[in-house]
Amino acid sequence: MEKIAVNAEGHLMLGGVDAVQLTQEYGTPLYVMEEDVIRAAMKAYRDSINRFYDGKGLICYASKAFSCKEIYRIAQSEGLGVDVVSGGELYTAHQAGFPMDKVVFHGNNKTPAELRMALDLGVGRIVADNIEELHLLSALAAEKGVTPNVLLRIKPGIDAHTHQFIMTGQIDSKFGFALETGEAMEAVKEALAAPSLHLIGVHCHIGSQIHEVTPFIRAAEVMMQFMASVREETGVTLTDLNLGGGYGIRYTDEDDPVPHAAYMEEVSEVIRSSAEMFHLPVPFILMEPGRSIVGEAGTTLYTVGSIKHIPGIRTYISVDGGMGDNPRYILYQSKYDFLLANRAAEAPTTTVTVAGKCCESGDLLGENVPLAEAKPGDILAVRSTGAYNYSMASCYNRNPIPPVVMVKDGTSRVIVKGMTYEQIVENDI
Ligand code: LLP
Repeated sequence: MEKIAVNAEGHLMLGGVDAVQLTQEYGTPLYVMEEDVIRAAMKAYRDSINRFYDGKGLICYASKAFSCKEIYRIAQSEGLGVDVVSGGELYTAHQAGFPMDKVVFHGNNKTPAELRMALDLGVGRIVADNIEELHLLSALAAEKGVTPNVLLRIKPGIDAHTHQFIMTGQIDSKFGFALETGEAMEAVKEALAAPSLHLIGVHCHIGSQIHEVTPFIRAAEVMMQFMASVREETGVTLTDLNLGGGYGIRYTDEDDPVPHAAYMEEVSEVIRSSAEMFHLPVPFILMEPGRSIVGEAGTTLYTVGSIKHIPGIRTYISVDGGMGDNPRYILYQSKYDFLLANRAAEAPTTTVTVAGKCCESGDLLGENVPLAEAKPGDILAVRSTGAYNYSMASCYNRNPIPPVVMVKDGTSRVIVKGMTYEQIVENDI
C-alpha cells in the first residue's frame, strides 16, 4: 500500500485537507485533485527538457487525461504546452486563455469544422494523421490564406506491453502513417509539396500506461532514422520530433513505474547519439504526458450504501457513483487502491467487490479489493483517479457528473461544478 496522510481522527488527508470534511462540504461522489502533485509532475518534466535538451523542447500536457479550464491555466503557469484532441478540448483551452501557439492538435479523424477552428485560432502545431486529412488541411489552409505548422503522425511499429485498447504504435492501429509500406514517406513528400502547409516534423505515440523504457527508446531510434531518410530523399531537415506520451503511473502495488527523469534521460541519450550518427541536428523535442501528470493527483470519494454478503460467493459494497464517473474498470479491468477515508489507518480485513449504482451488473469499480470492514455511510476513497476518470465520465442513467475540487495547502476550491438535474434536461426538447 502506498504511503498516505492520515490525521489524528484517522481521516485521509488530501492536500492538507480532511477528506471527510470535503465530502461534508461538497457531497459525494467527489473528484479531488491535489494541485501540488500536478505542479510537481509538470515541473519535473519541464526540468528534464532543460537538463537533457538545453531547454530546446516543449512538454505538452495531454489534456485528454483531464480537461477543464483550470488545468489549462495551471499548465500555462508552469510554462507547458498542451495537446488537444478535439474541438471541445481546443475550445476549453482557448476559453481558459491558453496561448494557442503552444497547442498541438491531434486526432485520427478531425472534422473540417475542427480543422477550420484550429486554423482560425492559430494553433501552433497540427498533427496530420492520414492522407485525406492532409489534403483537407491543405485545402482549408489555402482557402484561409494561412500556412499552419504540420507534423505527421507515424506508426513506428513498436509493440508496447499494455492493454490492447490503449496500444497505438503497432501497424494494426487506426492512428497514423505506416513506415514499412512507404506511406509515411509519400505523405512527407505531399506535405512538402503543398504550398499552404509548413511541414516541420513527425510525431509518434506508442501507447499508454507503459512501465518499460525500451519501447520508448526503440520508438525514438525509429523516428530519428526516419528523419534521416526524409533528409536523404527530400533534402529537407525536419526540426520537430514529438514523442507522444504513455509513461505509466502507480495505481496499485502491482505497478512499478519508471521515474520521469529516468525515461527522459535515457531517451535523450538515444536522440543525441542518433543525431550524431545521422549527422542531424538534435531536433526540438515535444512530449505529451497526460496520465503521469494528473493520474496520481486524483482521488474519488464515495459514500458506501448497501452491503450484500452472498455466502460463499462474494460481498458487494455499493457506492453512490460508479462507471459514470470511472469507466476504467469496466473498459480495461484497471486496478485501483481503495480505502475507507473516515477510518484510513485501519488495515484491510475483508475482500470485497465494489459496485456502482448504475442499472448494470458490469458496473463495478473493483473486484477482490482488500478493505477494512465497511458500513453504510463510510466514505470510500479510490486513489489515482486523476487521469481518464472525469474526462471519460458520462451521465449514464442520468446520474449527474460529480464536481471536481482542487486541494492545496489545507484549502479547497471547486474547479468544475457538479452537474445538476436541470442541466441534465437542458438540451431535451
Ligand atoms: N499523445 C497522444 C497522441 C495520445 O494519444 C495520448 C493518449 C497521449 C499523448 C497521452 O498518453 P498518457 O501519457 O496519458 O498515457 N483512456 C485510456 C487512455 C487512452 C490514452 C489515449 N491517448 C485509459 O484510461 O487508460
